[in-house]
Parts: sequence; structure tokens; C-alpha cells
Amino acid sequence: MNIAVVGLQWGDEGKGKIIDILSAGVDVIVRYQGGNNAGHTVVKNGVKYAFHLVPSGILHPGKICVMGNGMVIDPLALLHEIDELRSQGVELSPKNLKIAENAHVIFPYHRKLDGFRERLRSNRIGTTGRGIGPCYMDKYARSGIRVGDLLNPDLFLSKLADSIREKNSIYRQVFGYDGFSEEEIAKEYLSYAQKVAPFVTDTITLLHNLWQEGKSILFEGAQGVMLDVDFGTYPYVTSSNASVGGIFSGTGLPPKALDKVVGVAKAYTTRVGEGPFPTEFRDEMGDKVREWGGEFGTTTGRPRRCGWFDAVLVRYAVRINGVEDLVITKLDVLDKLETIKVCVGYEYNGQELSSYPFDIKVFSSVIPVYKEFKGWMCDTSKIRRFVDLPKEAKEYLGFISEFVGAKISMVSVGSDREDVVLVG
Ligand code: GDP
Ligand code: IMO
Ligand code: MG
Repeated sequence: MNIAVVGLQWGDEGKGKIIDILSAGVDVIVRYQGGNNAGHTVVKNGVKYAFHLVPSGILHPGKICVMGNGMVIDPLALLHEIDELRSQGVELSPKNLKIAENAHVIFPYHRKLDGFRERLRSNRIGTTGRGIGPCYMDKYARSGIRVGDLLNPDLFLSKLADSIREKNSIYRQVFGYDGFSEEEIAKEYLSYAQKVAPFVTDTITLLHNLWQEGKSILFEGAQGVMLDVDFGTYPYVTSSNASVGGIFSGTGLPPKALDKVVGVAKAYTTRVGEGPFPTEFRDEMGDKVREWGGEFGTTTGRPRRCGWFDAVLVRYAVRINGVEDLVITKLDVLDKLETIKVCVGYEYNGQELSSYPFDIKVFSSVIPVYKEFKGWMCDTSKIRRFVDLPKEAKEYLGFISEFVGAKISMVSVGSDREDVVLVG
């Protein structure tokens, strides 16, 4: 059975932890979009592992982890991550990590442009500053450099020369910056190329072969539906298709290779960066939940904005992705609350909207309509069976499941691999 694991909110739903758990039952884990804007944390026996580019299944020996062609890869960040994971004892070699030769490469001029554009915008997006958007811009402008190009020095140097000429000229006129040295970047990236080369392969053929052999595949989503460039709160989104649509263009496998979609949502909502967030806490509750949930970015360390569970958004995300199984994470974070709210609609200009409005101006000024639930006020972190969850927690989860239209298959009650309640 081939499954996809996707985020149903604004990222950081706890996908990494769930992917790690589900990886035990598959042979191949493939990331299909995004880059090191992602930060997926897995805690195994109390030890924390942070993933940005490497698929979160790598902690399971014997699995093949693939960084698909839909990704954008910063080789410096990748080499750093490989070193970091190896220093933690993770077995990582060209045998179990494969990088698509046609994934795009992030260069210093992408990171620079990310910062320049943010500074000039009157409405900042609050990007991670990793050069993700600018790299995808080059991809779609057909001026990107791909991982495979790095391994062909003549081709790489000619593409780089074109790129630097263009960037220096544009950046000089627009931002007063023309400081990229072709020589330095060439030297730097050719040295990365040597280190990355053993991992690089034709992942499309590899994935097709594995699929034909009957190997089971997990498609690892980064970010979440509300950060998807088409379906999220545009322009406050990332520059790729985080939802299931990205899987096929980002791996080369066809839709029939996907059997089931698992959607991950937190028991509340968080968001990093700018953009509308109707259920955001406007009072001290924000600080409390941030502290209880440890809501600080894995990638940038930024404090995450926190708010109530938005069932309207999650229902929309379930529809977009065709989610069959819903995983609710971080239930334990709500353990101390007397009352818990869920957003079940939006009010706009005195009228109730029952679905997510695409108009960002409308979405920015809606007032959430809440349904209140009694809190369970007890520790759920040690619970491992659904029947043992407090009645109030079951009611809360039951309502969410019914409202969003997906059955809950797992509830997470702590950061460790073991902290999980399997349902059904
Ligand atoms: P991802 O980007 O979706 O993989 O999520 P992140 O790893 O960025 O953020 C989720 C954070 O919550 C990580 O620090 C996890 O270790 C932690 N976490 C995951 N599930 C749970 C849970 O059920 N309870 C608690 N308390 N923490 C969790
Ligand atoms: P994971 O995979 C949360 C947000 C940024 C910013 C917007 C655009 O860990 O869930 P970008 O650098 O992608 O151009 O920034 O998207 N963002 C994330 N927020 N989790 C993520 O990844 C994110 N990746 C990007 O904060 O608002
Ligand atoms: Mg994250």
C-alpha cells in the first residue's frame, strides 16, 4: 500500500513524527516538494532528530529515502544535515539516500533575493529566507540549474555564467547589488558536486522500478495545504504544491501509484510567518499554548503563532487532498484547558460563510464562529488506547472527525515515537 502523508494546516503539524512511525511499514520514503524551509522533528528514545531535506524515514535501517525531482536543494544545507545526522549515529549512505538528478539547486543568489524581495514588499510574507521561492522562480523561468548539471562541469559552468550575468545585472539595477562572483560560486558548488555525486541518480526510473517490484512507498509532504501555492492563503504561502497534486509532478509516479492519503493536523492551529489566521489567540492563551506545545520553528527558531483548531480549514484541506485517514497530533498540549474552542464557520459583514473564502481580504477580516467543548483537564500523554482517552477528549476528536469528513486513525500525545494512540 502506497500512502501520502500531508499537512492539513500551515505546516508543523507533526508530519515528521507520523512519517517516522508509518515508515516502519513501507520500503521507500520520498519527498516530493519544498526544500530546507521544512523542519521535521522526530524524537526517538528521547533523542531529537531534525530533518530539513532528508526524508524523515531515514531513521529506519534498510529503507530507501528519496529526495524527489520536485524538491529544491541547497547542497550546503544538505551536506550539513547529512553530517549532523551521521554524528547522531544515523546510517546514511548512497545506498539508502537517493537524490533526483532533476531536482533544482539553490544558489546564494536565491537566498539573497529572498531577503531583498521581503525587504521591498509592503506586505512581507515572512519567508524562511532559504531561497526557496527564488529557486522555484528560476525553475519555472527555465533558467534553473539542476542537481545533475552540477555533475557535468562544462554544462554547469555555462549555465552558471548565464545566471550570474543575469542576476548581477538585475540585482544591481533593482537592489544596488552586483556582488556575485562566478568564480567563487563555481568553485564552491563544484566542491559540493563531488560530495553529493554518489547520492545522485535517476529517481524516476528508480521509483518506477521499486513500484513495479511491489515495494511500498510513502510520499512525504512538507509544509501544509494552507501554504500550498495554489490552495493556500496566497500570497502568504510557499512556492510549491504541498498538497497531493505535488506528488506526481514531484516524483514522476502516476496517480494510480497512490493508494491512500493520511492527513496530519494539530489539535489546535499554528502558523509561522505572516498572513491571515482567523482563530489566532489574541491574549495570553497564545503564550501558554506556545510554551506547552514548544511552538518554536525547527528551521528558523521563530515563535509560532498559535490559535484554536479551525475545522473549516481542515475540512477544506481534507477535500483538496482526498484524505481518508486523519491523524490528530499534540492533543496533550490541550490537557490543562477548561474550555476548548473549534472554529466551525466564519462571519463576514454580518453573514455566515460556511467555507474557506479565497479572497485574502475577506479571509483577513472574517470573525470565527466557535463551538465550545469542555476540556478534559487531565494528562493524556501516557494513554495508548483510544478507549482510555477521557470522555471529553473523545467528544472533541469525534466532532472534528465528523465535521471534516475523515476518520481518525491515530492520535499523538507526545513528541516521542511511542507517544501515540492508535484508533480502530
Ligand atoms: P512537521 O514540520 O509537521 O514535521 O512538524 P515539526 O516537527 O516542525 O513540529 C512539530 C513539533 O511538535 C516537533 O517539535 C515534534 O517533536 C512535536 N510533536 C509532534 N507530535 C507531538 C505531540 O503529539 N505532542 C507534543 N507535545 N509534541 C509533539
Ligand atoms: P514544515 O515542512 C511552517 C512558511 C514560512 C512563510 C511561508 C513562505 O516544517 O511544515 P518560504 O521560505 O517557504 O518561501 O516561506 O511558508 N513555511 C513554513 N511554515 N512549516 C514549514 O515547513 C514551512 N515552510 C515554509 O514561514 O510563512
Ligand atoms: Mg516543521
